[in-house]
Amino acid sequence: MKIELSKNKVLFNNGSTIQEIHPFWLRERVEGEEFLDNTTQQRLFDPSSINTEIIIKEVNIREGFLEINFNDGVNSKLKIDKIATEFSKKDTVIKSIKKIKWNSTLSNVKNYTYSENFFESKEMYDLLVSFYEYGFVIIKNVPNENNFIVNFANSIGSVRRTNFGEHFNVRSKPNPNDLAYTTLSLSPHTDNPYRNPVPCIQLLHCIENEVKGGLSTLVDGYTVTENLKKKDQDAYNILSEVKVKFKFIDKDVILEDWSELIHLDENKEFKQVRFSPRLDYVPILEKNKLGLYYKSRKKLSDLYNSKENRIEFRLEPKDLIMMDNYRVLHGRTKYDPNEGRRFLQGCYIDFDSTEGKLRHLKRKFRL
Ligand SMILES: [Fe+2]
Repeated sequence: MKIELSKNKVLFNNGSTIQEIHPFWLRERVEGEEFLDNTTQQRLFDPSSINTEIIIKEVNIREGFLEINFNDGVNSKLKIDKIATEFSKKDTVIKSIKKIKWNSTLSNVKNYTYSENFFESKEMYDLLVSFYEYGFVIIKNVPNENNFIVNFANSIGSVRRTNFGEHFNVRSKPNPNDLAYTTLSLSPHTDNPYRNPVPCIQLLHCIENEVKGGLSTLVDGYTVTENLKKKDQDAYNILSEVKVKFKFIDKDVILEDWSELIHLDENKEFKQVRFSPRLDYVPILEKNKLGLYYKSRKKLSDLYNSKENRIEFRLEPKDLIMMDNYRVLHGRTKYDPNEGRRFLQGCYIDFDSTEGKLRHLKRKFRL
């Protein structure tokens, strides 16, 4: 990638094509204390107030900078590296982290250990990279004080409050409004598929665990759905095309949202899975199509529930697990409340928290 000049035009050469950069695009990016606030990197002028027919009167390349004189009297130096990065259209921090597929054979995933200044440490940066690779991460030794989870979440970004409150307590209780608050096993699911938007990341902190059962289970929705795409294109297609309704009802609220079980992005690549067999309602479709849908959903469910795709482990007191709720399904095995106490606390954060923190730490450690 290269910036070139030709008769007061700035050209962008990406190796195969050369295109002229619109002068206004460059004018919007002028730097200097008159135009850009040094601390916030926010503009001090409104581009809408500038004539869009702006012309470059003179331009030179010197020591990695474009030196431009515009015909409205503004002269500025623009860093060429910065312009080239924008042209790559890539989120160079988050999207450059490649997802690693995993199943029951996953081993040697690094655990992280909580310590003082954890959230501003290089360890935190490594943790976040690992989180984007695997879709989950486990942190040991997180103080098991009541409500510490909220503190933890707010030190990465901001808690995403829901109608369950700022955080929720996972232990069996009488008259529960969700099966999570019983001692029953929970098959792999994603949380809150009925919300718009769905909370991105779930944090779950083990405060007490005296029971033999209640093991945590995780399944990588990315691995499972990518494998399904290879093995059964029809099933993959219908599950990524048909939007179903997810619904939650209690005495205070009715939440509803529609989505495909496999939600793809604009490039038809994996974006999100939602799966919660207790809460989904398929719309009425032509009978044959519904037949294919039900077969496909069962196939997906069998894959999510198969031992081959699941890892199972015990959360010990002071363990905190952070899960990508758009990628990883979670569940637990049943337990006997007569054996002792089992008490977890959970909350949600959104991707802006982890992404913002990761970019900040990358800048801080010049990585
Ligand atoms: Fe859950």
